Amino acid sequence: KKVVLAYSGGLDTSVILTWLRDTYDCEVVTFTADIGQGEELEPARAKAKKMGVKEIFIDDLKEEFVRDFVFPMFRANTLYEGEYLLGTSIARPLIAKRQIEIANKVGADAVSHGATGKGNDQVRFELGYYALRPDIRIIAPWREWDLTSREKLMAYAEKRGIPVEMKRGKKSPYSMDANLLHISYEGGILEDPWKEPEASMWRWTVAPEKAPNKATYIELTYKKGDITAINGKAMSPATVLATLNQLGGANGIGRTDIVENRYVGMKSRGAYETPGGTIMLKAHRAIESITLDREVAHLKDDLMPRYASLIYNGYWWSPERRMLQEMINASQATVNGVVRLKLYKGNVTVVGRKSDSDSLFDATIATFEEDKGAYNQKDAEGFIKLNALRMRIAAKRKRGKT
Ligand code: ARG
Ligand code: SIN
Repeated sequence: KKVVLAYSGGLDTSVILTWLRDTYDCEVVTFTADIGQGEELEPARAKAKKMGVKEIFIDDLKEEFVRDFVFPMFRANTLYEGEYLLGTSIARPLIAKRQIEIANKVGADAVSHGATGKGNDQVRFELGYYALRPDIRIIAPWREWDLTSREKLMAYAEKRGIPVEMKRGKKSPYSMDANLLHISYEGGILEDPWKEPEASMWRWTVAPEKAPNKATYIELTYKKGDITAINGKAMSPATVLATLNQLGGANGIGRTDIVENRYVGMKSRGAYETPGGTIMLKAHRAIESITLDREVAHLKDDLMPRYASLIYNGYWWSPERRMLQEMINASQATVNGVVRLKLYKGNVTVVGRKSDSDSLFDATIATFEEDKGAYNQKDAEGFIKLNALRMRIAAKRKRGKT
């Protein structure tokens, strides 16, 4: 029997590696992905080797992550519960996909992950596994073993000779997850929704009050709804996001502190830093504001919360998410142009937008000056009167008075 484990190189997944062998007498294949979490991957390889793993997969998935997952999601202006930019949620389907590809390649019959039985991540991983390989066997150690506390985990690690600390620096008191789109913090003092996290928790952004006193101006070029250049310089998707993270982080942009509804039913408090994503959301709405038809834009907005829930709840590989994506993608054909932004002390302000090829903004119609017959104000009289008709009829029946 062979199991492909999503392996970070950290203590938890190292314990899982050993536990899988102890419990299932199986061969474990490790898979570690670089999705921009900002950690070196070679230590994970070294550690897996040291633990006797024969097949070790280490993949740089940064470009695929942004091109095929982050960018498509941003075409919909996606936000979960009005706040969350889905940084963790959008990475899980990619990890699941690659893990199944590896399982197929090495002839494994099972996959395993380090997500707990209380969260969203288990659902996202496993819905992905099943969608991509219906007969896969899934092993979720956190739902099976009795290592229910940190102490028990450490004791197990010690007993089985698993090196406990490989990362430099002190252990964070938070449960964190990072990739090119965001870094998240949960647990620790955040478990009290009234408590403010200490300033030192935040890792990617400066505090807005400590951000530069001078604004940073940037220009983003859009092609079919995706950013292809920053300040006129063409960049790959992953480079675009990394660059915006830098710019946003330096200006204190992208912090959120929320209580969200997990799919499994509980409320959970989380803090997030999504500097580049926060800029992209604002900018994308700005370019759509001149290039999309009103009804198309509003229909997208109606459907967006559904689309966001699908991603949050782990249904990336579902037929309904794919269907919505086709529609969203089609809407982006005209979303071409340039947005100019001002970044300043935690704020992203749109200061300009233009599209030579696709702008629907017509100054000759919208002007407060003489419009030279492009728009006949007399037409508005009948427009309003017919729209008022049913209300006038109701009013005659004395309806709608209160
Ligand atoms: N609550 C967020 C979500 O469900 C972040 C989850 C973070 N995951 C983690 N393994 N630390 O998307
Ligand atoms: C976990 O429980 O593994 C992390 C949190 C989540 O998945 O929501």
